[in-house]
Amino acid sequence: MMKVSKAIFPVAGLGTRFLPATKANPKEMLPIVDKPLIQYAVEEAVAAGITELIFVTNSSKRAIEDHFDSNFELEVTLQERGKQELLDIVRGILPDGVSCAYIRQKSPQGLGHAVLCAKQLVMNEPFAVLLADDLIDGDQEPCLQQMIKRFHEQQASIIAVEKIAPTETKKYGIVDVGGVQKELASVQNIIEKPDPALAPSNLGVVGRYVLTPAIFALLEQTHKGSGGEIQLTDAIAKLLKQESVWAYQFTGKRYDCGSKLGYLEATVAYALKHPELAQDFKRSLENLVA
Ligand code: UTP
Repeated sequence: MMKVSKAIFPVAGLGTRFLPATKANPKEMLPIVDKPLIQYAVEEAVAAGITELIFVTNSSKRAIEDHFDSNFELEVTLQERGKQELLDIVRGILPDGVSCAYIRQKSPQGLGHAVLCAKQLVMNEPFAVLLADDLIDGDQEPCLQQMIKRFHEQQASIIAVEKIAPTETKKYGIVDVGGVQKELASVQNIIEKPDPALAPSNLGVVGRYVLTPAIFALLEQTHKGSGGEIQLTDAIAKLLKQESVWAYQFTGKRYDCGSKLGYLEATVAYALKHPELAQDFKRSLENLVA
């Protein structure tokens, strides 16, 4: 099985849950303390050995391209002012040896459709998908790195799952693992946003996937599903009739930064870990909630 060197970042959604903040700014550029969400996802991918970043964007997401491009004026100004530390931060956003490609999704037809848009760039290789609004603090090891290891062991697609509240199944793709409670379990079926009464488990899919390229032909045959969108989940349901697919309960803490509450939780958690801010912020927080 080939090395996983490419990752797709679908960033063409509308981000309606964050309006009006996302009217002109991409949701993925919302900062957690001092870094945009998309940068956390890119750093996770690069730490896992990804060298080709493929962003599926739309016309209102230009800020993402600019963020990963160099900014000559800014760099010269920082240099002139002797701000070396800031200059290093700005220049280090995209490490050497990592390239970016951008492809447009013409209209937001769903995550499955967004992934399919990247087919020509991925070609016949296994690849990762990272949804930047799921921010994962991998603790000891970045989530995607954990998954790529399992991919090499199993030689098959790996999808990240976590235990969710049984009442929340309508927000997630839910896997059926035949009642197996192991860290890595073979997926028997997968259903997009089922009613709690119909959910086969409490294992919800979160925004990290390592997939074989067989998924592309299946996405091409996938019709609109839940929410009138072409769902990646529906294509995975077809994939597991051809190949094995594994659900992996990763180690780490996920923040659902696509929701306001999750975003605020992540901001607080990351501020409490930030080397410059932690102490003062903790004090402010204690005063605020006292
Ligand atoms: P979400 O449904 O969580 O994001 O899609 P959204 O549609 O942007 O946000 P809300 O629900 O309106 O607030 C999950 C991921 O898939 C991408 C999104 O950008 C997000 O990263 N996506 C979704 C696409 O790239 N294209 C789509 O057509 C839909």
